[in-house]
Amino acid sequence: IDISTLRAQTGGLITLDRGFKNTGSCESAITFLNGEEGILRYRGYSIEDLAENASFLEVAYLLIFGELPSESELNKFYDDIKAESNVDEEMHKILDGFPKSAHPMGVVSSLTNALIAFNPSSVNVESKEDMYNAIIKLLAKFPVLCAWALRKRTGQPLDYGDDSLGYVENVLKMMFKKANQNYEVDPVIASALNKLLILHADHEQNCSTSTVRVVGSSHAGLFASISAGISALWGPLHGGANQAVIEMLEGIKEDGGDTKKYMQKAKDKEDPFRLMGFGHRVYKNFDPRARIIKKSADDVLGNLGVEDPILDIAKGLEKEALEDDYFVKRKLYPNVDFYSGIIYRALGIPTEMFTVMFALGRLPGWIAQWREMRLGKEPIGRPRQVYTGEKLRSYKPMDQR
Ligand code: ACO
Repeated sequence: IDISTLRAQTGGLITLDRGFKNTGSCESAITFLNGEEGILRYRGYSIEDLAENASFLEVAYLLIFGELPSESELNKFYDDIKAESNVDEEMHKILDGFPKSAHPMGVVSSLTNALIAFNPSSVNVESKEDMYNAIIKLLAKFPVLCAWALRKRTGQPLDYGDDSLGYVENVLKMMFKKANQNYEVDPVIASALNKLLILHADHEQNCSTSTVRVVGSSHAGLFASISAGISALWGPLHGGANQAVIEMLEGIKEDGGDTKKYMQKAKDKEDPFRLMGFGHRVYKNFDPRARIIKKSADDVLGNLGVEDPILDIAKGLEKEALEDDYFVKRKLYPNVDFYSGIIYRALGIPTEMFTVMFALGRLPGWIAQWREMRLGKEPIGRPRQVYTGEKLRSYKPMDQR
């Protein structure tokens, strides 16, 4: 039965599901998620397996094309990316127009959209080959834009990467190499970042991914869809939580480290404060990514010899929340963002860049979802509503209002 027949038969009845809590928006073969049991798989591979064994670029290939690449497939994939890593010089002028204080998420989202002007062929993706070219361009240029956003903020001259390095190592070098100085990639840092990016790479129909699919469903093009996804990710209830977590933990530390006081605030319904990094729309048992990241935080800080009092506050909060009726009853557990910021800090990444790092990790997932949507010829995303406004009324002249 098609939807218009159903609507005619039911007198125009529609489903109302605020926040789409139980509405499937598409069929997808990319990411499997079981929130009750804390299972996350990309294309059938468990997140634990991939985080332990794979490189981020392999995972990107897996998500986008459906299978793990052979060695030659991976080499070709990376060679194609390296060949597209230049960003038009005119883009510098756009970057220059932003104040130094601009949030890097706004900068990266705008620059991603601006890329369309310099790569107009990326919009028309009628064939698989066009699609592949647009995807490669974005995977190549997006890390450059992320690095530029950081370098602008830290006052470093813009830089391109180093083709002899791996994708993740190159990201680090583009971000952190200082002018006229050598930069040796620390393998501990590269491996930690590789793992974080994998853990963030896809998460089925979350807010930013749904945004990418909906915008893409109007055939607006890959870069415009991803730019919209970046904006959706920015919010503190979504990817922006990693920045918000660190700001919250710093606030608690500066306020004397009284975690109980903040637990109380989080439970007070009159107080807008929420325990950032806690709770998830789908995970009602635990977030498997948070488990891996918590262990990784201990390893990375240990390996780098970093002592961060904020890690102790985080662990204290987690322990209290796990024993607290309010949190237990509502099934609120640490999510992926609760510990990721602590690792980013240890890696020397500034707080305002955390959500950009998330976007870098999520990029292959967004691309995979966009590609699936376009290849599946999905119709334009267009939900309905339940109208609660005024009934028909007549226009009132100004002097009668
Ligand atoms: N602190 C305190 N109470 C919370 C929290 C929290 N972090 N999260 C949810 N609750 C409470 C709500 O107040 C609500 O209580 P009530 O039933 O008494 O009204 C109940 O738990 C259910 O919460 P909802 O907001 O209805 O759950 P929803 O699924 O809509 O929201 C969300 C999920 C947005 C993640 C929420 O838990 C939250 O705001 N968490 C903090 C922000 C955060 O960490 N976001 C990152 C999510 S992961 C990601 O996007 C990568």
